[in-house]
Amino acid sequence: MPHTMVRHFPATPRMTPSDTPPFFTGRTEPFDQPFDAWPQQPLLLSMEQGGIDWPSSCRNGTCRTCIGQLVSGQVRYEIEWPGLTKEEQEEGYVLPCVAHPCSDVVLREGY
Ligand code: FES
Repeated sequence: MPHTMVRHFPATPRMTPSDTPPFFTGRTEPFDQPFDAWPQQPLLLSMEQGGIDWPSSCRNGTCRTCIGQLVSGQVRYEIEWPGLTKEEQEEGYVLPCVAHPCSDVVLREGY
């Protein structure tokens, strides 16, 4: 009687949180500079680590020197009220020194 070899293949692996990329893709306008946007740190820090020279001063969300506008993407804040009006936030203005990415982001410098 011929021997039948049964091979067991592992089930299709499921995506787990550890499989998801640890960072989002960031890009600045108008100079089209890419950077790795790490969700656990502010966008400003990620941009600086990517070699991008972005204006900043207080780095705590009050002076507005770092202001930019989201062309696409979403951010969250760990401080209760960053130095932006509700209207500015609705128009996509962000303070990268205190804004953490929640998705891939494209950010335009200035107001
Ligand atoms: S550097 Fe002051 S608000 Fe961002």
